[in-house]
Amino acid sequence: MARLKTVYKCQECGFEGLKWSGQCSDCGRWNTLVEEAVEAGRAARTGGRSLAALSSEVVRASELKVHSDGLRHPTGIGEFDRLLGGGLVEAQVLLLGGEPGVGKSTLMLQIASRFSRVGKVLYVSGEESIEQIAQRAVRLGCEAGKLFFLSETRLERIVEVMREVSPKWIVLDSIQTVYREELPNAPGSVTQVRECAGELLRLAKSSGIGIFLLGHVTKEGDLAGPRVLEHLVDTVLYFESESQHSLRVLRVYKNRFGPTQEVGLFEMQERGLKEVLNASSFFLQERSTNPLSGSCISASLEGSRPLLVDIQALVSRSPYGIPRRMATGLDLNRVLILVAVLERRLRLRLEGHDLFVSVAGGIRLKEPALDLAVCAALLSALKDAPWDAQWMFLGEVGLSGEIRRVPRLAERLMEAEKLGFRKAFIPARSFSELRREGWKIERAPLEHLSEILSQLHSGPVSSPSEGIRT
Ligand code: TYD
Ligand code: MG
Repeated sequence: MARLKTVYKCQECGFEGLKWSGQCSDCGRWNTLVEEAVEAGRAARTGGRSLAALSSEVVRASELKVHSDGLRHPTGIGEFDRLLGGGLVEAQVLLLGGEPGVGKSTLMLQIASRFSRVGKVLYVSGEESIEQIAQRAVRLGCEAGKLFFLSETRLERIVEVMREVSPKWIVLDSIQTVYREELPNAPGSVTQVRECAGELLRLAKSSGIGIFLLGHVTKEGDLAGPRVLEHLVDTVLYFESESQHSLRVLRVYKNRFGPTQEVGLFEMQERGLKEVLNASSFFLQERSTNPLSGSCISASLEGSRPLLVDIQALVSRSPYGIPRRMATGLDLNRVLILVAVLERRLRLRLEGHDLFVSVAGGIRLKEPALDLAVCAALLSALKDAPWDAQWMFLGEVGLSGEIRRVPRLAERLMEAEKLGFRKAFIPARSFSELRREGWKIERAPLEHLSEILSQLHSGPVSSPSEGIRT
């Protein structure tokens, strides 16, 4: 009889060690090593019965049938289709990650319902009973057509049903709840997650079924367990939200069949997720009709789309010895660097002040192109003087306070122009790039951050209601 060996396996990255240690020596995370039996796991992978085998035929390149982009299946949910590059590809395997409660099941059910017009969809839930799914489906107004539900966690049974129903698409909600009975590990462990996903993947690829795998993420933002699946699947999507906001942002991290870095915007409403249709002006909707100090507009490029955003800052005298600095929707470290630049290069005295910076509307942005707007918002808050509401700011700020170029400036300006903005502060070095004739928006070139100081009080201030379309 084979001796049952154990290894210590990292539940984040799948690393195996013979001894337990507090930190994984591979990915560096703490308290992720869990003891797992190794014999059965190895047997299943090497000699064990596979539920589906991949074809190993040799095919001549000239005889290959290639699915052209024409074979994409749009789901009819515009934001989702655009994200994927036009729709789902035949037998595509997607991983959808997100924190519990963000709306993964809701989104999937809506997509499954739309998709069931095209072909059979099997929705397998390991988390909810049939009644619960049915209730949700009714609330979302799902089309029942060719939509099948199964509440099950045993992979063997799921595969059986897949063979019976022979769906075109299958949704597995979530990958952490499924398990193979012959493995000794708990559901959700790296071994179970990897084995189950691998098995489904082989089945999907050999029978032309598309799969959506749903996965929960840890607080740190990594796909716990499912992280080890990222290289197996065709597409990795991540659903995120800022707490207390109804906005949901769907991002593509990997896509074998389309663009990455794209974002889809949705709003969680009473009856499920609704697409945000006016994305570029969506974040300006709730802007005050009077110009306010500390508020400043910029354009962030998310995937292929410019989004106009309102960067807001608040500066107040700190009652404590160590002043507070907080950023919502922006990278705090980047904000701290910009604060240092403002202090050193513009000789502003910020040390006795609490500083708060946020992006209105609940979206997280990382682009350095927003640096200038962050600085402008802080300046306006500090001086308690509003910027003209029809102005906007674009530029990366270097450590010397120089204004650096931003990618695809013209696209951002065109969107701002369309929405009625009158003037944009832009990097001087980019000025010559904007060759298009007939700009309506005035372009004010900046070499250095110090140049905006003199602009803060110049001229009358107009309010957004005087022409900006949101
Ligand atoms: P859910 O899809 O269950 O999240 P996940 O699968 O990612 O855990 O979404 C749960 C949240 O969404 C819950 O807080 C309630 C909210 N919700 C709505 O606001 N409206 C709706 O129509 C639905 C179905 C859910
Ligand atoms: Mg769910």
